[in-house]
Amino acid sequence: MPRYSEETIAQVREANDIVDVIGQHIKLTKKGANYFGLCPFHGEKTPSFSVSPQKQIYYCFGCGAGGNVINFLMEYENMSFTEALRSLADRAGIALPEAGDSGEQFGMSALKRKLYDINKDAAYFYYDRLKSREGAQGLEYFRDKRRLSDRTITHFGLGYAGKQRSELYEFLKGKGYDDESIKTSGLVIFDEQRISDRFWNRVMFPIMDQNSRVVGFGGRVMGDGQPKYLNSPETPIFDKSSVLYGLNFARKSRKPQLLLCEGYMDVIALHQTGFTNAVASLGTAFNEKHARLLRRYTEEVILTQDSDEAGIKAKLRAFPILRDAGLNVRVLDMKGHKDPDEFIKEEGAEAYEALIRGAKNAFMYETGVIRDRYDLSDPAMKTRFYEELADKLCMFTESLERDNYIQAVSHEYMINYEELKKLVEYRFLKSGVRQKERIRDEKQREETEKRAVRMEAPHEGRSENASLKAQRLLIAWGCSDHEVLRSVRTYLEPSDFNEGIMRELYEELLRESDEGEASASRLMELYPDDEEKRMQAGLIINSDSGYKSLQDMKRQELEKALTTAVQSIRACILDRETEACGDDILKLQELFRKKKELEKLHVSVGKT
Ligand code: UTP
Ligand code: MN
Repeated sequence: MPRYSEETIAQVREANDIVDVIGQHIKLTKKGANYFGLCPFHGEKTPSFSVSPQKQIYYCFGCGAGGNVINFLMEYENMSFTEALRSLADRAGIALPEAGDSGEQFGMSALKRKLYDINKDAAYFYYDRLKSREGAQGLEYFRDKRRLSDRTITHFGLGYAGKQRSELYEFLKGKGYDDESIKTSGLVIFDEQRISDRFWNRVMFPIMDQNSRVVGFGGRVMGDGQPKYLNSPETPIFDKSSVLYGLNFARKSRKPQLLLCEGYMDVIALHQTGFTNAVASLGTAFNEKHARLLRRYTEEVILTQDSDEAGIKAKLRAFPILRDAGLNVRVLDMKGHKDPDEFIKEEGAEAYEALIRGAKNAFMYETGVIRDRYDLSDPAMKTRFYEELADKLCMFTESLERDNYIQAVSHEYMINYEELKKLVEYRFLKSGVRQKERIRDEKQREETEKRAVRMEAPHEGRSENASLKAQRLLIAWGCSDHEVLRSVRTYLEPSDFNEGIMRELYEELLRESDEGEASASRLMELYPDDEEKRMQAGLIINSDSGYKSLQDMKRQELEKALTTAVQSIRACILDRETEACGDDILKLQELFRKKKELEKLHVSVGKT
């Protein structure tokens, strides 16, 4: 069985967004920062299965199932780790190396593998052309017109498609690719009369995904022809809505934010100037997938789209999408310059750095856009502007936050603070009915979640749930206080814990406590080679949140809690036995007696 490096595993994990993957199997609904659905691992009628796009993990408040995307497939499809990894690598089109060999690949559909190869070979081809004699015009365009250094040209793998009709086609044929695959790559167009390259007499921009694999191309005319850019069509490996140009470099930039701009050239110019955190969505409207992709690598996005009408629209459209993905958003004002590329050429890197520092909070930017729609010299318009501002400010339901923004807005537009505040608060109250509804919905959801956490769901599987909750609690407490463990271990054997991770953790706890003191961090080291289990273990070990913390408990309280926990676990075992024994009356009676006895059990702490 091949073993994969941490790096390979991480690469596969990162290439598969957990929300996408789980969303293919389960209907997920977005609530707040997370997604919820019915848990596939235990029967339930209200959703307590959550998926976090930020943390890229799933977790069920009902049954404690949890882990990352690989773990999900293992559980859901009943796959081994290797199978799950292969399946995800396949899904993302990543070639997994076979153990100990010289790069033979498996795990990806043959077609996708070929498409990656074709695109990579094509990128080398275009790059070579750029450096050849025929490419002189392209090279001149990049160097002189766009002021790109040779280093930048190489870094981004820029290229040139010549004037012959089917140079690339011949080249790919020469490499042994079949027509069908070449056609699917979209780089060559087959029609009845003839076969011709899609890109012709253009400078070429290979488009790479976040793992630096070439998935398609953009080609620009060197003059004013139309269309300005021609792009690869969507193919099995090129989905425009999930690629951000420059992200393969930007994700490694270690800057506090990512800069979101519009075009190939903006990204390249920014990177060349040292802003290696710039990315662009490729001519497609910015969407949720883009936002989630960004959220994996950063917490804050600075929008630096073009300053024209379309650019403003793009920004306003992106705000809610980015906010919903949990990103902080700021906007950079390019002070009349068309785009970052131009700005940098005309004003230089330092000026741009200053723009980043002064980037406006997205809300304040929005108010500016609103202001520009009114003629403020007209008193009636001015009033309308204030009213619109007031309405907009109502989106902050937290009064403190609302007040902060009222202050900022009154300062920015020189509106009397008291007056604006009155206006906003009045409108806020008026919208109170709507507000109340929203709050009620919110509360309801919280209740459901809390109930799920406590696992009081009053339906089948209740004793299983209670037992699982108790097991998690005992493990969580057991590793922060060995007194707890000592008190409990006389009542519970490892075999009383659910098979798998629960049992393993409990066993380990007992072993460690025999040797000295058990600790959470030691438990976390239990699975050095198994990231999924490590994560699951982490979820269990941390699962005491929501309960009173151990230190805050009086001894009596603690004893009561431990007693209940042990009873839950034992009761569940008895329930299982009851279920299994059919109509064996004697056995049933005995089990019933045991259940009665169980009620008398009392765990005491501090005595040995
Ligand atoms: P821009 O026209 O702003 O691109 O379009 P740019 O990169 O600044 O172009 P230069 O500076 O004139 O070379 C933004 C993006 O929209 C897509 C491209 O991805 C481009 O980078 N686009 C634009 C197309 O796909 N086709 C087009 O014809 C134009
Ligand atoms: Mn431009």
